[in-house]
Amino acid sequence: MEARRDWYIPVSSLDVECRALDLFQLNTPLVESIRQTIRAQGPQSFAWFMQQALYHPEHGYYASGHCAIGRKGDYFTNVSIGPLFGQLLATQFGEIWERLGEIDDFLVVEQGAHDGQFARDVLEFVQKRRRKFFDALRYRIVEPFPILQARQRQTLEAFRDKVEWRESLQPFKGVHFSNELLDAIPVRLISNGREKLVGLDGDKFVFVERSVDKTMFNQAALECVDQIAANLQRGYVIAIDYGRMDEDSQRSAQVRVQHRNLDSPFEQIGEADITMSVHWRSIIERAQANGLRVAGFTDQHHFLTGIISEFASGDRGQSLLADLGKAKRELQTLLHPEMLGRAFQVLALAKNVDVKVGPLAAFKFAREPRFA
Ligand SMILES: C[S@@+](CC[C@H](N)C(=O)[O-])C[C@H]1O[C@@H](n2cnc3c(N)ncnc32)[C@H](O)[C@@H]1O
Repeated sequence: MEARRDWYIPVSSLDVECRALDLFQLNTPLVESIRQTIRAQGPQSFAWFMQQALYHPEHGYYASGHCAIGRKGDYFTNVSIGPLFGQLLATQFGEIWERLGEIDDFLVVEQGAHDGQFARDVLEFVQKRRRKFFDALRYRIVEPFPILQARQRQTLEAFRDKVEWRESLQPFKGVHFSNELLDAIPVRLISNGREKLVGLDGDKFVFVERSVDKTMFNQAALECVDQIAANLQRGYVIAIDYGRMDEDSQRSAQVRVQHRNLDSPFEQIGEADITMSVHWRSIIERAQANGLRVAGFTDQHHFLTGIISEFASGDRGQSLLADLGKAKRELQTLLHPEMLGRAFQVLALAKNVDVKVGPLAAFKFAREPRFA
């Protein structure tokens, strides 16, 4: 298809930042294949570009296994700070299991599990501290990429009888968990009726703009919510991510490599992570339209403080306190408002769970409005 040049206006003429990308004359197979498509079919949506950069089966940052998280990688996540995050979430999963009547077919379903570290932190903690819950628990990782699945199997070798893998979601009772899944799902760049597309100026990637009808920029993330809602038979969804409740500010993608933020998504294509802050309101509305109830929304600081205050004492606390004592620095990084405590928000959704049971422990200090 010939590019319809008349639709497109170079972005520089529209008062939107347009960077000269001479610096990034990459010629990797991935970059060449992106160029070929644009040459043949004209400018493409940013969602298509992001899909190639992150999920191209051979060369994408995630699909090829290039992704590296943690101190020696490209960026930190809650999981890469240390095992405490998984231990605190495991404690919350235990409460959910109790609320569902201690069922013996309880599943933790994780999507976006990277190398399986979170799953291991959860399973090690539950095995050590909550034997009864451990006996009832199964863990399912939804992982479409073989190279990541292989890493997860290695990390979880000690729990091979507890963990199963699927390429897509299937019906389950229990809890669906994700940490920084939604922000990694491709988005279109749409603002005030204009869409930025990825085009070419010679060999250089440039943004061009066109008018667009009212359409959702995060369609793929909304479809992910549809999938979760369709497969959760009874239980909760806990999604942790960075985002905003409302629309107004201009969105721009965040591009990270080796703990640096790059100025442009056209730098180090396939070598860098690209994310977009989550638009929580549309996620919540889509979840509600699918029959899920909002069971809480708050920042990570209040979420984790709720878990600690509920479970770090008394019988149910087991020795969570001992684990907290050993992990003061991790705790500070996860909780501190200027570190991860405010940067991340937590959304909990529920299905077929009696409303009368009240909020989960993690939401006892939630300050944001409830969306019941
Ligand atoms: C930012 S990483 C987060 C990794 C991990 N949860 C952590 O916190 O360290 C996003 C992950 O989501 C995965 N992902 C994206 N779309 C997915 C999908 N539809 N199903 C499963 N995983 C997906 C990516 O492959 C990547 O591993």
